[in-house]
Amino acid sequence: DWTPDSFVEETVEAIREKVGNGKVVLGLSGGVDSTVAAVLLNKAIGENLYCIFVNNGLLRKNEFENVLNQYKGMGLNVKGVDASKRFLEALKGIEDPELKRKAIGNSFIEVFDDEANKLEDVKWLAQGTIYPDVIESVSATGGPSATIKSHHNVGGLPDFMKLKIVEPLRAIFKDEVRRVGATLGIDPELLGRHPFPGPGLGIRILGDITAEKVRMLQEVDAIFINGLKAWGLYDKVWQAGAMLLPVNSVGVMGDERTYEKCVALRAVESTDGMTADWVNLPYEFLQKTSNDIINKVKGVNRVVYDISSKPPATIEWE
Ligand code: XMP
Repeated sequence: DWTPDSFVEETVEAIREKVGNGKVVLGLSGGVDSTVAAVLLNKAIGENLYCIFVNNGLLRKNEFENVLNQYKGMGLNVKGVDASKRFLEALKGIEDPELKRKAIGNSFIEVFDDEANKLEDVKWLAQGTIYPDVIESVSATGGPSATIKSHHNVGGLPDFMKLKIVEPLRAIFKDEVRRVGATLGIDPELLGRHPFPGPGLGIRILGDITAEKVRMLQEVDAIFINGLKAWGLYDKVWQAGAMLLPVNSVGVMGDERTYEKCVALRAVESTDGMTADWVNLPYEFLQKTSNDIINKVKGVNRVVYDISSKPPATIEWE
């Protein structure tokens, strides 16, 4: 029967058998899946694993620097590539959610390909694909949800990369991935991180994306997430984040009338992201968080809390 230890042992063996002395490139995202995949591969093939961590400029506040340092501390052979400007440039003026995903996905492929081409003789591309990603992309080819969203992890290999794929987590679920990560000695805080979408804050800024809006949402998000941690609520929530709405509303500040942005906070309970319920966060927490956001983040004068379940809503707003 399945245990994380036997999984690690068998998978390390299988990876060695599959890739031999071949070099493997892997894109790290900061998330649990790609991290566990990288540590497994590192255990199996060591320096033949080349990790690339791209900053798309749409990560959480300080995430790129913090997570890159954490990866290095774990002994991973990782290169950080700050491509924020390139992504922002590609996103300029785009409002449609699917076009944003495409712009972000294409920019990622370009940046990743540039980096992978700098490495010589790479034969394999490793990915942190897990079982639910596999099912969701299969159902997305024919099901009624086919055009709702293009999830990016599966089947997105561009022809020109021509690499063979290795996906050590393809048969297991998220909770198993976390258990495998724990067995591998990965920091529990990293393993307990909430899921975060590949397009990042790009799909949490409704409407067009600018550097200023990204900065604003990073501040809002940091206050919300740090608050959840400080109140011991973070681990009770499956996923949380903030959306910057394309709406201005009237407020007052002293004796001035303001006309500024509104943000929506969202926190959900879920087991796999396929269905989700909004979390009944304590009023005192919401009150404090709203005050902190409005007092500290310039340009925001209103905070709302999303009380919609999935279905019929989705977790993200785009
Ligand atoms: P929805 O909004 O569809 O989200 O209820 C379900 C889960 O998927 C994440 N999500 C994405 N992840 N690329 C990703 O890598 C995407 O384009 C994307 N869209 C949604 C979302 O954050 C949630 O965990």
